[in-house]
Order: sequence, then structure tokens, then C-alpha cells
Amino acid sequence: MKKVKIAPSILSADFSKMGEEVRSLGKSGADMIHCDVMDGVFVPNITFGIKMVEDLRKVTPLPLDCHLMIVNPEKYVEKFAAAGADIITVHYEACKENLPFVLKQIKAAGVKCGAVINPDTPVDKIADVIPLCDMVLVMSVFPGFGGQKFIPSVLDKVREIRAIADRLGLDIDIQIDGGINAETAALARAAGANILVAGNAIFKAENRAERISKLRA
Ligand code: DX5
Ligand code: ZN
Repeated sequence: MKKVKIAPSILSADFSKMGEEVRSLGKSGADMIHCDVMDGVFVPNITFGIKMVEDLRKVTPLPLDCHLMIVNPEKYVEKFAAAGADIITVHYEACKENLPFVLKQIKAAGVKCGAVINPDTPVDKIADVIPLCDMVLVMSVFPGFGGQKFIPSVLDKVREIRAIADRLGLDIDIQIDGGINAETAALARAAGANILVAGNAIFKAENRAERISKLRA
């Protein structure tokens, strides 16, 4: 089994002190920083963009994992890469048949790439692009907001993706995002996910370091 990594989502951070929040996550043992970019069009919420990634790059050595919940991501992936993103993930639902090109565009910009599927999108929509991906992100809530309830039916898709990757001999990461806590983290891991995104579970904890190691255990 692959090593489990914890990716705290800064969507749940206090935006007025983002630098401090990200430094605190580093000290608490986070493996990467999950940056939820929302445009108010692809999802009914707006967060932050390229400038945030550029500024966070200066305050943390941790990989910046940029989850783009935006329409026309092909217009922006190069800018996120230049800003200092280490991995950029784009939604199948935003790219449709353009997905392989956008993934290649991300790789050409020199960063890792990933495809994301919403809870109601079947794995066959992205099966062909799995060999192009460093990571596949399975949403376990409908994107837009933190603090939602985990949708257990997505675990079958995690198993399906892990089986496809194993069959093809691909050592990809499978990330899961939404409603992750100690209990759902265990389910996700058992299904084959190895990178766990968590917002509320970490930011609402009194002791972030303890919570992060609990999620990892
Ligand atoms: C949802 C975001 C998630 C979310 C996770 O649109 O992609 O990263 O912030 O937050 P929790 O862990 O609170 O569900
Ligand atoms: Zn996310």
C-alpha cells in the first residue's frame, strides 16, 4: 500500500491570516497544501486564484496542490504553474473531451497533473486519461463548500480506479476530497486512496498536529 499523505484544504482557513495558517500546517505535519480555487461559475462559490498561490509559494516549502474548480481551466493552468503550483487538478466536468489536452498542457508547464471527477461522474469518463495522470481526485462531496457530508458510494470508484491503475502497472496517487474525518479516512484508505484532503476536520481541531497524525494513522 502507498504511503498515506494528508492535504489540508485552506478553504477552511482564516483568509485574513493565510500565511500564518499555512506555516502552522507545515509545523503540524501536513504533506501538502490543498488550494481550492473556485470561480463562482463552475461551482456556486468564489475563493481565490493565482495571486494566492504566488504569495503562499513564498511562505511554505510544502507542495501546493491546486484543485481548480473553474470553467475553461486551459486558460489558467500555465499561470498557476508559473505562480508555483506543484500539482494542478482539473475537473472532467469542466474540460469534457478536452481533458487529455489540458492534462498534457499542465505537464508541459512542468508540474504534476490530475483529473477530478464529481460524485455523480462515472470512472469510464476518465478511464482513458488515467495513464496521463500523476493523480486522480475522486470528489466525495459535490464541490463548492467545506463541511459537507461524505458520500460513501464514491468508494466504489476509488476501488475501480486503483484496479485500473494496478492493471496498467501505474503507480498513481488517488486523492479523495470532501467530508474526510478519522472514520471516512479509514474507509477511503481501505478502498485505495492514498492522499486525503481535509478541511474542517483539521481546522476545527484544537490540536492540528494530533488531528493530522490521527487522519494518517
Ligand atoms: C470542496 C473542496 C474541498 C473541501 C474539503 O469543494 O474541494 O477541498 O474544502 O473540506 P471538508 O474536509 O471540510 O469537507
Ligand atoms: Zn478540493
